[in-house]
Amino acid sequence: MSLVVGVGLRSGTPYAELAAAVEAAVQDLPGEIRLLVTLTGRESEPALQQLANDLHVELRTFTAAELSSQPAPTPSRQVADLKNTPSVAEAAVLATGAELLLPKQKTHNTTVSVGRRAPAGGYEKQDREVVQRVIAERRDVRRGFLDVPIDVDALMRVLEAAHRAPSVGLSQPWDFLLIRDVATRRKVHELAARQRDAFARSLPEQRRQKFDGLKIEAILDTPLNIAVTCDPGRGGRHVLGRHADPRTTWFSAAIAIQNLWLAARAEGIGVGWVSFFGPDEVADVLGLPPHIELVGYLCVGYVDQFAPAPELIRFGWAERRPLSWAIHHDTWGHRDTSIVDDAGHAARNAVRATGQRIHVIIGGDPTDLHHQESLVIDLGPTRPDHDFGVLWRPARTPEEAEEYGVEIARDLALQGAGHLDVQLAADEPRAKALAEGLRTGAAACGLTYS
Ligand SMILES: Cc1cc2nc3c(=O)[nH]c(=O)nc-3n(C[C@H](O)[C@H](O)[C@H](O)COP(=O)(O)O)c2cc1C
Repeated sequence: MSLVVGVGLRSGTPYAELAAAVEAAVQDLPGEIRLLVTLTGRESEPALQQLANDLHVELRTFTAAELSSQPAPTPSRQVADLKNTPSVAEAAVLATGAELLLPKQKTHNTTVSVGRRAPAGGYEKQDREVVQRVIAERRDVRRGFLDVPIDVDALMRVLEAAHRAPSVGLSQPWDFLLIRDVATRRKVHELAARQRDAFARSLPEQRRQKFDGLKIEAILDTPLNIAVTCDPGRGGRHVLGRHADPRTTWFSAAIAIQNLWLAARAEGIGVGWVSFFGPDEVADVLGLPPHIELVGYLCVGYVDQFAPAPELIRFGWAERRPLSWAIHHDTWGHRDTSIVDDAGHAARNAVRATGQRIHVIIGGDPTDLHHQESLVIDLGPTRPDHDFGVLWRPARTPEEAEEYGVEIARDLALQGAGHLDVQLAADEPRAKALAEGLRTGAAACGLTYS
């Protein structure tokens, strides 16, 4: 509980008396003191200043006029005559919007009252709608860039937004490399083109045809590229919150990019994130020192429009997962409805089957990945080295394996699968249950199964 303490005190009140009065007032109340409040003018009292310092809390004041309008339950005529308000301690608590928990307690020189702070409160409806709108209308943009230079003030506002991002231990590990030079961008473009070709070669035929129609970058179509980097060591050894999980540094840089993206949308500036590079490929071209890593490479410029939906959805490449699939309660897998029962409703999520065939090998190993259509599901206890093509699903029970099966089928359907061709390469209950889950998920999403 967040407590607010209202204080009235005479000039020269000893610190010990005030501190003891406050301690006695809050001793039976759970929670911590978050705010001290008093009458304007009293904030210069040394005892009150010291108490605020010791508690590390704000000391806020209200004028006599503000206090006298509060419905304090224990008014005093004497205080009214002296201070032009019938209550200080209780009225100050009420003036913050807090609920009064403890009426005025008196000592020789002080009065103390305690309240529970109200929630800080959100924005008005129209402001909330603006926030939701910019989130919904942010787009990854790769087409329709205009040959218009970016307004310098707008760019600074966008970078300011990025730079306000939260970061682990306030380490602010990002830097923003603004790339306008065409020769540099050509080199980056060549790297992306090479990776594009490599990705295309890795795709099954049908998927490759679809990929050919997609635009994956706008490096040369935009007036500005921004490389957002991360310095994983920034802040030294004792960065608060990073010691247990160093990945938090990269998370911080990624959040800065999201801030940038949202602020740019509000300015009418399109941003497209290109990740068709190996982690170190761009470093040379941009002259990054070895300790600086690229997190995001962004193509930035004014655009003729922001599409209403992601390009990958509009071009039939992938679909969104419904929010309900992503929500679990308290421990993993506790969803509002069982995923297996819920699978029957999956089709209504407008999953668009494309006919892509996937050969799912349950309990296989990476040597089975000789064909582009293959997907190995590894049920073993240790994480496999392979990233692409091997799904690690170390199900703890057959029931869990069945759920994984449903989930895999649904997620494959969202990535354009049309048919699941399932092979059992392990003879154990979890493998069979996973196959059953795949069958259920496939049926729910309109995939064929064999
Ligand atoms: C980390 C990351 C890397 C991405 N890399 C690329 C990319 O290389 N090429 C591309 O066309 N889109 C890329 N995107 C954009 C996504 O395809 C896009 O965010 C997604 O389809 C959703 O569309 P929306 O951003 O318009 O909502 C990337 C997005 C993220 C977050």
